[in-house]
Amino acid sequence: ACTSGSDDDSTLTVCTNVPFAPFEYKDGDEYVGFDMDLMNRLADRLDQTVEVVEISFESISSGEALNAGTCDIAAAGLSITEERQDAMGMSQAYYRADQALVVPTGSAVASLDDLSGLQVAVQSGSTGEAYANDNAEQYGFEVRAFESMGDIASALSTGAVGASIADLATWNEMIETASDLQLVQTIETAEHYGFAVQKDDTELLDEVNTMLDEIFADGTYAELYEKWIGE
Ligand code: ARG
Repeated sequence: ACTSGSDDDSTLTVCTNVPFAPFEYKDGDEYVGFDMDLMNRLADRLDQTVEVVEISFESISSGEALNAGTCDIAAAGLSITEERQDAMGMSQAYYRADQALVVPTGSAVASLDDLSGLQVAVQSGSTGEAYANDNAEQYGFEVRAFESMGDIASALSTGAVGASIADLATWNEMIETASDLQLVQTIETAEHYGFAVQKDDTELLDEVNTMLDEIFADGTYAELYEKWIGE
């Protein structure tokens, strides 16, 4: 299904962008997380093995990577939007997500209302970036886009930016190991993650949707949710 170098019928190439715990991150040389477990489950169904292609989030969310044949499927905590549904084939929803406002510990910022004059970090091509762009004028902040969540965490730690808006579950995970960062506000955007395939790959899209139907029904989803998200 894919035209890139090492791919063949026995390989499911999966585009992702790390770090984005608990959905995808690197544990040593291995890519692990909620999304990766779901991709392994899909690969099992297809008698394939997963090969991860790490790539910028923007090239995933724009549909560019998939439609250029860089990978068969994208698993990247990718929120379903109308634009993305037009650009790619998007699966049914498998996770309900929101955004969150994160600041350096000790910052005077307690909510969006305190962002006037500050620089707010977002990930390029993300729904957090879209939210920030839509609200920058109202709250008087400036949007700064970064390649990865790792770059955003560094920029917050060094004080290069005053705040960040990105996905709640990922921030919850990241601040557990970063005591210099603090989550101050949940921004309820009611997003849903889906997996994305090349625009005309209805065959693989059917497989993903069937795999999701199966794991919702047989208890596997609940198990994996408990394992990676908890509660
Ligand atoms: N859910 C957000 C979006 O779709 C952010 C996802 C970022 N994912 C990642 N693997 N860095 O735009």
